[in-house]
Amino acid sequence: MELTTVVLKPEELDKAAAFLQRGQCVAFPTETVYGLGANALDAQAVAAIFTAKGRPQDNPLIVHCASEAQVLSLVGDVSPEARKLMRRFWPGPLTLVLPRADKIPSVVSAGLDTVAVRIPSHPIALQLIEQAGLPLAAPSANLSGRPSPTTARHVLEDLGGRISAVVDGGETGWGVESTVVDCTTKPFRLLRPGGVTLEELESVTPVLVDPGVYGQLQPGSTPRSPGMKYRHYAPRAHVILVVGKGAPERIAALGREYQAEGKKVGVMAPAEHCPAYQEFTTLPMGSLSNLQEISANLYRLLREADELRLEILLVEGITEAGLGMAIMNRLRRAAEVYIQEG
Ligand code: TXA
Ligand code: MG
Repeated sequence: MELTTVVLKPEELDKAAAFLQRGQCVAFPTETVYGLGANALDAQAVAAIFTAKGRPQDNPLIVHCASEAQVLSLVGDVSPEARKLMRRFWPGPLTLVLPRADKIPSVVSAGLDTVAVRIPSHPIALQLIEQAGLPLAAPSANLSGRPSPTTARHVLEDLGGRISAVVDGGETGWGVESTVVDCTTKPFRLLRPGGVTLEELESVTPVLVDPGVYGQLQPGSTPRSPGMKYRHYAPRAHVILVVGKGAPERIAALGREYQAEGKKVGVMAPAEHCPAYQEFTTLPMGSLSNLQEISANLYRLLREADELRLEILLVEGITEAGLGMAIMNRLRRAAEVYIQEG
Protein backbone atom coordinates (compact mmCIF):
# COMPACT_ATOMS: atom_id res chain seq x y z
CA MET A 1 0.00 0.00 0.00
CA GLU A 2 1.35 3.43 -0.97
CA LEU A 3 1.38 5.80 2.01
CA THR A 4 1.97 9.53 2.08
CA THR A 5 5.14 9.95 4.10
CA VAL A 6 4.85 13.09 6.21
CA VAL A 7 8.07 15.00 6.95
CA LEU A 8 7.83 16.30 10.51
CA LYS A 9 9.87 18.99 12.22
CA PRO A 10 11.47 18.35 15.63
CA GLU A 11 8.73 20.61 17.11
CA GLU A 12 6.07 18.19 15.84
CA LEU A 13 6.96 15.14 17.94
CA ASP A 14 3.38 15.02 19.23
CA LYS A 15 2.31 14.02 15.70
CA ALA A 16 5.08 11.43 15.46
CA ALA A 17 4.08 10.02 18.86
CA ALA A 18 0.43 9.79 17.74
CA PHE A 19 1.42 7.75 14.65
CA LEU A 20 3.41 5.38 16.88
CA GLN A 21 0.54 4.99 19.36
CA ARG A 22 -1.69 4.01 16.42
CA GLY A 23 0.73 1.20 15.50
CA GLN A 24 2.37 2.97 12.56
CA CYS A 25 6.05 3.28 11.61
CA VAL A 26 7.95 6.56 12.02
CA ALA A 27 11.59 7.22 11.14
CA PHE A 28 13.56 9.40 13.56
CA PRO A 29 17.16 10.52 14.06
CA THR A 30 19.43 8.92 16.62
CA GLU A 31 23.05 9.85 17.39
CA THR A 32 24.18 6.98 15.10
CA VAL A 33 21.86 6.72 12.06
CA TYR A 34 18.12 7.24 11.43
CA GLY A 35 15.94 4.47 12.89
CA LEU A 36 12.55 3.19 11.70
CA GLY A 37 10.51 2.96 14.89
CA ALA A 38 7.33 1.17 15.89
CA ASN A 39 5.74 0.18 19.20
CA ALA A 40 7.98 -2.66 20.43
CA LEU A 41 5.07 -4.16 22.42
CA ASP A 42 2.78 -4.47 19.36
CA ALA A 43 3.65 -7.48 17.17
CA GLN A 44 1.66 -6.13 14.22
CA ALA A 45 3.36 -2.74 14.32
CA VAL A 46 6.75 -4.46 14.45
CA ALA A 47 5.83 -6.72 11.53
CA ALA A 48 5.16 -3.56 9.49
CA ILE A 49 8.82 -2.52 9.98
CA PHE A 50 10.01 -5.75 8.33
CA THR A 51 7.60 -5.18 5.42
CA ALA A 52 8.59 -1.52 4.89
CA LYS A 53 12.32 -2.36 4.84
CA GLY A 54 12.05 -5.66 2.97
CA ARG A 55 14.01 -7.06 5.92
CA PRO A 56 14.49 -10.82 6.30
CA GLN A 57 12.32 -12.09 9.18
CA ASP A 58 15.29 -13.80 10.83
CA ASN A 59 17.16 -10.54 11.57
CA PRO A 60 16.16 -9.27 15.05
CA LEU A 61 15.56 -5.61 15.99
CA ILE A 62 16.93 -3.28 18.66
CA VAL A 63 14.46 -1.90 21.24
CA HIS A 64 15.08 1.77 22.07
CA CYS A 65 14.25 3.02 25.57
CA ALA A 66 14.43 6.36 27.35
CA SER A 67 15.45 5.15 30.83
CA GLU A 68 17.15 2.29 32.61
CA ALA A 69 13.88 1.52 34.42
CA GLN A 70 12.13 1.07 31.06
CA VAL A 71 14.94 -1.26 29.89
CA LEU A 72 14.72 -3.33 33.08
CA SER A 73 10.98 -3.82 32.52
CA LEU A 74 11.66 -5.51 29.16
CA VAL A 75 14.51 -7.89 30.02
CA GLY A 76 15.27 -10.79 32.36
CA ASP A 77 18.20 -10.91 34.75
CA VAL A 78 20.93 -8.34 34.19
CA SER A 79 24.40 -9.24 35.48
CA PRO A 80 26.45 -6.70 37.46
CA GLU A 81 28.94 -6.55 34.54
CA ALA A 82 26.15 -5.63 32.08
CA ARG A 83 24.96 -2.98 34.52
CA LYS A 84 28.44 -1.49 34.50
CA LEU A 85 28.28 -1.14 30.71
CA MET A 86 24.87 0.54 30.98
CA ARG A 87 26.09 3.01 33.58
CA ARG A 88 29.21 3.88 31.62
CA PHE A 89 27.85 4.16 28.06
CA TRP A 90 24.11 4.97 28.24
CA PRO A 91 22.64 7.06 26.83
CA GLY A 92 24.84 6.42 23.79
CA PRO A 93 25.77 4.20 20.85
CA LEU A 94 25.86 0.85 22.70
CA THR A 95 23.33 -1.97 22.29
CA LEU A 96 23.22 -4.80 24.83
CA VAL A 97 21.78 -8.24 24.08
CA LEU A 98 20.01 -9.46 27.24
CA PRO A 99 17.51 -12.17 28.18
CA ARG A 100 14.07 -11.27 26.74
CA ALA A 101 11.05 -10.74 29.01
CA ASP A 102 7.74 -12.28 27.77
CA LYS A 103 6.27 -8.84 27.26
CA ILE A 104 8.45 -8.37 24.14
CA PRO A 105 6.75 -10.10 21.20
CA SER A 106 8.97 -12.75 19.65
CA VAL A 107 8.83 -11.05 16.21
CA VAL A 108 11.08 -8.29 17.68
CA SER A 109 13.82 -10.84 18.39
CA ALA A 110 13.15 -13.05 15.38
CA GLY A 111 12.20 -15.87 17.76
CA LEU A 112 15.35 -15.66 19.94
CA ASP A 113 15.03 -15.75 23.73
CA THR A 114 17.19 -12.61 23.94
CA VAL A 115 16.45 -8.97 23.12
CA ALA A 116 18.77 -6.16 22.03
CA VAL A 117 18.22 -2.86 23.87
CA ARG A 118 19.74 0.58 23.94
CA ILE A 119 19.15 4.09 25.27
CA PRO A 120 20.03 6.53 22.47
CA SER A 121 21.54 9.90 23.36
CA HIS A 122 19.92 11.95 20.58
CA PRO A 123 17.50 14.43 22.21
CA ILE A 124 14.84 13.88 19.50
CA ALA A 125 14.98 10.10 19.91
CA LEU A 126 14.74 10.34 23.70
CA GLN A 127 11.89 12.84 23.58
CA LEU A 128 9.97 10.77 21.04
CA ILE A 129 10.21 7.60 23.15
CA GLU A 130 9.04 9.56 26.18
CA GLN A 131 6.24 11.34 24.38
CA ALA A 132 4.94 8.12 22.81
CA GLY A 133 5.26 6.45 26.22
CA LEU A 134 6.47 3.32 24.42
CA PRO A 135 9.68 1.39 23.87
CA LEU A 136 10.46 1.60 20.14
CA ALA A 137 11.73 -1.30 18.09
CA ALA A 138 13.89 0.35 15.44
CA PRO A 139 16.30 -0.93 12.82
CA SER A 140 18.18 1.51 10.62
CA ALA A 141 15.67 3.31 8.35
CA ASN A 142 17.00 2.07 5.00
CA LEU A 143 15.75 -0.54 2.55
CA SER A 144 17.38 -3.82 3.53
CA GLY A 145 20.87 -4.09 2.00
CA ARG A 146 21.25 -0.33 1.34
CA PRO A 147 23.60 1.97 3.30
CA SER A 148 22.08 3.20 6.57
CA PRO A 149 20.55 6.71 6.40
CA THR A 150 22.31 9.64 8.02
CA THR A 151 19.80 12.28 6.81
CA ALA A 152 16.00 12.45 6.42
CA ARG A 153 16.56 12.71 2.66
CA HIS A 154 18.26 9.29 2.67
CA VAL A 155 15.24 7.88 4.55
CA LEU A 156 12.85 9.32 1.96
CA GLU A 157 14.97 7.96 -0.92
CA ASP A 158 14.52 4.43 0.43
CA LEU A 159 11.24 4.46 2.34
CA GLY A 160 9.19 7.38 0.96
CA GLY A 161 5.65 6.04 0.32
CA ARG A 162 6.31 3.03 2.59
CA ILE A 163 6.16 4.64 6.07
CA SER A 164 3.86 7.13 7.80
CA ALA A 165 6.39 9.80 8.75
CA VAL A 166 9.99 10.84 9.21
CA VAL A 167 11.17 13.36 11.79
CA ASP A 168 13.81 15.55 10.13
CA GLY A 169 16.50 16.21 12.72
CA GLY A 170 19.31 16.99 10.27
CA GLU A 171 22.47 14.92 9.99
CA THR A 172 23.16 12.22 12.56
CA GLY A 173 26.41 12.37 14.55
CA TRP A 174 28.35 9.09 14.47
CA GLY A 175 27.23 7.93 11.03
CA VAL A 176 27.79 4.25 11.86
CA GLU A 177 25.40 2.14 13.91
CA SER A 178 25.71 1.33 17.60
CA THR A 179 28.13 -1.23 19.01
CA VAL A 180 26.30 -4.51 19.74
CA VAL A 181 27.48 -6.60 22.72
CA ASP A 182 25.98 -9.96 23.67
CA CYS A 183 25.78 -9.99 27.48
CA THR A 184 24.20 -13.46 27.66
CA THR A 185 27.56 -15.26 27.26
CA LYS A 186 30.72 -15.21 29.35
CA PRO A 187 32.89 -13.40 28.43
CA PHE A 188 30.64 -10.90 26.68
CA ARG A 189 30.87 -10.98 22.91
CA LEU A 190 31.23 -8.05 20.50
CA LEU A 191 28.80 -8.79 17.65
CA ARG A 192 29.05 -5.47 15.80
CA PRO A 193 31.63 -2.70 16.32
CA GLY A 194 30.21 0.83 16.44
CA GLY A 195 30.41 4.20 18.16
CA VAL A 196 31.61 2.76 21.48
CA THR A 197 35.02 1.24 20.72
CA LEU A 198 36.40 -2.16 21.77
CA GLU A 199 39.10 -0.36 23.75
CA GLU A 200 36.42 1.56 25.69
CA LEU A 201 34.42 -1.62 26.40
CA GLU A 202 37.52 -3.45 27.58
CA SER A 203 38.27 -0.68 30.04
CA VAL A 204 35.07 -1.83 31.83
CA THR A 205 34.86 -5.60 31.25
CA PRO A 206 36.56 -8.30 29.13
CA VAL A 207 34.97 -8.67 25.68
CA LEU A 208 35.56 -11.36 23.05
CA VAL A 209 35.38 -10.24 19.41
CA ASP A 210 33.00 -12.46 17.43
CA PRO A 211 34.77 -13.72 14.26
CA GLY A 212 31.79 -12.45 12.23
CA VAL A 213 33.06 -8.91 12.90
CA TYR A 214 35.84 -9.56 10.42
CA GLY A 215 33.32 -10.86 7.92
CA GLN A 216 33.39 -13.68 5.46
CA LEU A 217 35.82 -11.84 3.23
CA GLN A 218 39.44 -12.72 3.85
CA PRO A 219 42.46 -11.19 2.12
CA GLY A 220 43.00 -12.78 -1.27
CA SER A 221 39.41 -13.97 -1.62
CA THR A 222 38.13 -14.05 -5.19
CA PRO A 223 35.23 -11.94 -6.52
CA ARG A 224 31.83 -13.30 -5.61
CA SER A 225 28.41 -12.46 -6.89
CA PRO A 226 26.77 -9.95 -4.59
CA GLY A 227 24.35 -11.77 -2.33
CA MET A 228 22.07 -10.03 0.16
CA LYS A 229 23.05 -12.72 2.60
CA TYR A 230 26.65 -11.53 2.85
CA ARG A 231 26.71 -8.04 1.49
CA HIS A 232 25.29 -5.06 3.36
CA TYR A 233 25.56 -1.31 3.18
CA ALA A 234 26.24 -1.78 -0.50
CA PRO A 235 26.10 0.73 -3.31
CA ARG A 236 25.31 -0.58 -6.79
CA ALA A 237 28.94 -0.26 -7.91
CA HIS A 238 31.34 -3.20 -7.67
CA VAL A 239 33.27 -2.38 -4.48
CA ILE A 240 36.91 -3.40 -4.08
CA LEU A 241 38.54 -2.76 -0.70
CA VAL A 242 42.34 -2.55 -0.71
CA VAL A 243 44.39 -2.51 2.51
CA GLY A 244 48.10 -2.41 3.35
CA LYS A 245 51.15 -0.33 2.57
CA GLY A 246 51.00 -0.93 -1.19
CA ALA A 247 47.31 0.02 -1.41
CA PRO A 248 47.70 3.38 -3.23
CA GLU A 249 49.76 1.88 -6.08
CA ARG A 250 47.45 -1.13 -6.41
CA ILE A 251 44.36 1.09 -6.45
CA ALA A 252 45.84 3.32 -9.17
CA ALA A 253 46.80 0.28 -11.27
CA LEU A 254 43.38 -1.35 -10.90
CA GLY A 255 41.64 1.93 -11.61
CA ARG A 256 43.56 2.36 -14.87
CA GLU A 257 42.75 -1.20 -15.94
CA TYR A 258 39.04 -0.70 -15.37
CA GLN A 259 39.09 2.70 -17.05
CA ALA A 260 40.79 1.13 -20.08
CA GLU A 261 37.79 -1.24 -20.21
CA GLY A 262 35.56 1.83 -20.40
CA LYS A 263 34.27 1.54 -16.81
CA LYS A 264 33.38 4.55 -14.67
CA VAL A 265 35.82 4.35 -11.73
CA GLY A 266 35.68 6.09 -8.37
CA VAL A 267 38.17 6.03 -5.50
CA MET A 268 37.15 6.50 -1.89
CA ALA A 269 40.20 7.34 0.23
CA PRO A 270 41.33 9.43 3.17
CA ALA A 271 41.34 13.13 2.21
CA GLU A 272 45.14 13.26 2.57
CA HIS A 273 45.56 10.61 -0.14
CA CYS A 274 42.99 11.89 -2.66
CA PRO A 275 45.43 14.11 -4.65
CA ALA A 276 47.17 10.88 -5.77
CA TYR A 277 43.93 9.67 -7.42
CA GLN A 278 43.09 12.66 -9.57
CA GLU A 279 42.67 10.62 -12.75
CA PHE A 280 39.54 9.07 -11.16
CA THR A 281 36.39 10.42 -9.52
CA THR A 282 37.44 10.88 -5.89
CA LEU A 283 35.24 10.54 -2.80
CA PRO A 284 37.27 11.96 0.10
CA MET A 285 36.38 10.06 3.31
CA GLY A 286 37.62 12.73 5.68
CA SER A 287 40.92 13.17 7.45
CA LEU A 288 42.93 10.23 8.80
CA SER A 289 43.48 12.33 11.90
CA ASN A 290 39.71 12.40 12.53
CA LEU A 291 38.06 8.97 12.40
CA GLN A 292 34.77 10.44 13.58
CA GLU A 293 34.70 12.56 10.42
CA ILE A 294 35.29 9.43 8.32
CA SER A 295 32.51 7.49 10.08
CA ALA A 296 30.10 10.42 9.71
CA ASN A 297 30.77 10.58 5.92
CA LEU A 298 30.84 6.86 5.15
CA TYR A 299 27.23 6.02 4.25
CA ARG A 300 26.63 9.33 2.48
CA LEU A 301 29.61 8.57 0.23
CA LEU A 302 28.35 5.07 -0.55
CA ARG A 303 25.05 6.65 -1.64
CA GLU A 304 26.93 9.27 -3.67
CA ALA A 305 28.72 6.47 -5.52
CA ASP A 306 25.25 5.52 -6.82
CA GLU A 307 24.32 9.08 -7.72
CA LEU A 308 27.56 9.37 -9.70
CA ARG A 309 26.67 6.06 -11.43
CA LEU A 310 30.06 4.61 -10.62
CA GLU A 311 30.60 1.08 -11.88
CA ILE A 312 33.76 0.38 -9.91
CA LEU A 313 34.45 1.80 -6.46
CA LEU A 314 38.00 1.28 -5.19
CA VAL A 315 38.27 1.89 -1.45
CA GLU A 316 41.47 2.50 0.49
CA GLY A 317 41.29 0.78 3.87
CA ILE A 318 42.22 2.51 7.13
CA THR A 319 43.32 1.50 10.62
CA GLU A 320 41.33 -1.10 12.62
CA ALA A 321 42.04 0.78 15.87
CA GLY A 322 39.38 2.71 17.78
CA LEU A 323 36.47 3.78 15.59
CA GLY A 324 38.44 2.35 12.63
CA MET A 325 37.17 -1.11 13.60
CA ALA A 326 33.54 -0.08 12.93
CA ILE A 327 34.44 1.76 9.73
CA MET A 328 36.45 -1.19 8.35
CA ASN A 329 33.68 -3.63 9.36
CA ARG A 330 31.16 -1.64 7.26
CA LEU A 331 33.60 -1.35 4.35
CA ARG A 332 34.21 -5.12 4.35
CA ARG A 333 30.45 -5.65 4.29
CA ALA A 334 30.02 -3.26 1.38
CA ALA A 335 32.88 -4.86 -0.59
CA GLU A 336 32.80 -7.84 -2.93
CA VAL A 337 36.57 -8.14 -3.08
CA TYR A 338 39.13 -7.57 -0.33
CA ILE A 339 42.77 -7.20 -1.35
CA GLN A 340 45.70 -7.15 1.09
CA GLU A 341 48.60 -5.35 -0.59
CA GLY A 342 51.90 -5.41 1.27
O1 TXA B 1 22.71 2.50 15.88
C1 TXA B 1 21.89 1.58 15.76
O2 TXA B 1 21.99 0.53 16.37
C2 TXA B 1 20.71 1.83 14.80
C3 TXA B 1 19.86 2.95 15.41
C4 TXA B 1 18.58 3.16 14.65
O3 TXA B 1 19.62 2.69 16.75
N1 TXA B 1 19.95 0.63 14.63
C5 TXA B 1 20.42 -0.41 13.91
O4 TXA B 1 19.53 -1.47 13.79
O5 TXA B 1 21.50 -0.43 13.38
P1 TXA B 1 19.70 -2.64 12.75
O6 TXA B 1 18.44 -3.41 12.83
O7 TXA B 1 20.07 -2.09 11.45
O8 TXA B 1 20.83 -3.54 13.36
C6 TXA B 1 20.57 -4.31 14.53
C7 TXA B 1 21.69 -5.29 14.76
C8 TXA B 1 21.66 -6.38 13.72
O9 TXA B 1 22.98 -6.72 13.38
C9 TXA B 1 20.96 -7.51 14.48
O10 TXA B 1 21.28 -8.77 13.95
C10 TXA B 1 21.49 -7.30 15.89
O11 TXA B 1 21.54 -5.89 16.03
N2 TXA B 1 20.58 -7.86 16.91
C11 TXA B 1 19.35 -7.40 17.25
N3 TXA B 1 18.79 -8.19 18.21
C12 TXA B 1 19.68 -9.16 18.48
C13 TXA B 1 19.69 -10.27 19.38
N4 TXA B 1 18.66 -10.55 20.18
N5 TXA B 1 20.79 -11.06 19.38
C14 TXA B 1 21.84 -10.79 18.58
N6 TXA B 1 21.90 -9.74 17.70
C15 TXA B 1 20.83 -8.95 17.66
MG1 MG C 1 20.72 -1.84 9.48
